[in-house]
Amino acid sequence: MSTLAVVGAQWGDEGKGKVVDVLAAEADLVARFAGGNNAGHTLVVDGKKIVTHLVPSGCTYPGTRCLLGAGMVIDPEVFAEEIAEIRSQGLLQNDELRVSYDAHVIFPFHRELDGLREDTSGSKSIGTTRRGIGPCYEAKVGRRGIRVRDLLDPARLRDRLELNKRVLEPEFARLGQGKTIDVDALVARAAEWAKWLGPMVCDASAETLDAIDGGKRVLFEGAQGALLDVDHGTYPYVTSSSTIAGGVCTGLGIGPTLIEGVWGITKAYTTRVGAGPFPTKLEGEAGEALRKAGGEYGATTGRPRDCGWLDLPALRLAARRNGLTGLVVTKLDVLAMLPRAEVCVAYADNVDPGRDGFDRAVPVYEAIEGWGDPSWAERVNKARALEDLPGPVRAYLDKIAEATGVAITMISVGPERGQTIRLR
Ligand code: GTP
Repeated sequence: MSTLAVVGAQWGDEGKGKVVDVLAAEADLVARFAGGNNAGHTLVVDGKKIVTHLVPSGCTYPGTRCLLGAGMVIDPEVFAEEIAEIRSQGLLQNDELRVSYDAHVIFPFHRELDGLREDTSGSKSIGTTRRGIGPCYEAKVGRRGIRVRDLLDPARLRDRLELNKRVLEPEFARLGQGKTIDVDALVARAAEWAKWLGPMVCDASAETLDAIDGGKRVLFEGAQGALLDVDHGTYPYVTSSSTIAGGVCTGLGIGPTLIEGVWGITKAYTTRVGAGPFPTKLEGEAGEALRKAGGEYGATTGRPRDCGWLDLPALRLAARRNGLTGLVVTKLDVLAMLPRAEVCVAYADNVDPGRDGFDRAVPVYEAIEGWGDPSWAERVNKARALEDLPGPVRAYLDKIAEATGVAITMISVGPERGQTIRLR
């Protein structure tokens, strides 16, 4: 397959970083199409951990080009730090990193506004990462956004900053914090960014299309997950971008007919960070046991994630809205550590996860028969073929495939690249 989109099929943190890292071994170009440094992808290569937020997870392969598309929002200061960190490990040494001139730029005032809104919204807080992602996308849709290309044109940049100053200073005052946006200082700061960012700037749509036309293998790397999509997620508890496979087209400027396959990533259970509905969330000790077993703390924020059993109706919704052609199940080794496991097969009263009532949905669970053998954790961790997995674990995977109508194409049984069962 020469083009493949890899997207989160839950609420993010499904392990897309590892999966893309595995698949990128066979890719010439890895392109991100949405989100910003609210994503946190963890790659483990030869026991060494690399956390990326903006840089695509193809960065560990010399010669693989990594592209940041127009649908992304980029905080130049975070980006600079991340590039320095990755380069210090001997990676991304040449011209392997490119950024769309149409991606939007996160300024310090976006971050401050994000944090201030979270601090002042009490019980209505969304639980954002406070990285300025939402305010930056808001500016984009409000047609006052500042794009990467504006950093290279100081007169235009000044105009755009003045416009934002007029809109945002009253907003800061309304939230109880007088703030002056110092346009001169920001123009000077942006001139520094432009020096190192300038040579990476490109037409990301043309880069992608030319790569596809030239027969190159292209991976589209999603961030967050389907249920956080701004249009199709659990609104308003969503991220500000298009996280589903459709976002590949808008975020990179390519047509849907060019995407040959879409793989959705799901954990063997469910996690969620931030506010919003999560019907299968486990409270108390049960949730804590899953959190501990899976190390469920955010790579970006360190926040503990809420944990619960796998939600098949929600996963089926994600499969449909992404047009999934394959499903990747991660962290199967974690579920295998537990003495028992359940799975949500429906909601009481046939509540539909895509409609009103999802926030009150009562899950109908089935216990997974035969689950819970202390020897499984190691056995699953060491499995490299389907046949190596215990019978009840294979039956569980069959159930997931049947409920979603999507074939399982890969299984992840540990954070390392090699701890993977490839079925396709
Ligand atoms: P977002 O784009 O921010 O949603 O993140 P993500 O989907 O890339 O997930 P992230 O890398 O934050 O979280 C996954 C975590 O699980 C990382 O620490 C990975 O190293 C780890 N991980 C991935 N796959 C497996 C697996 O199969 N087993 C175990 N035990 N850990 C895994």
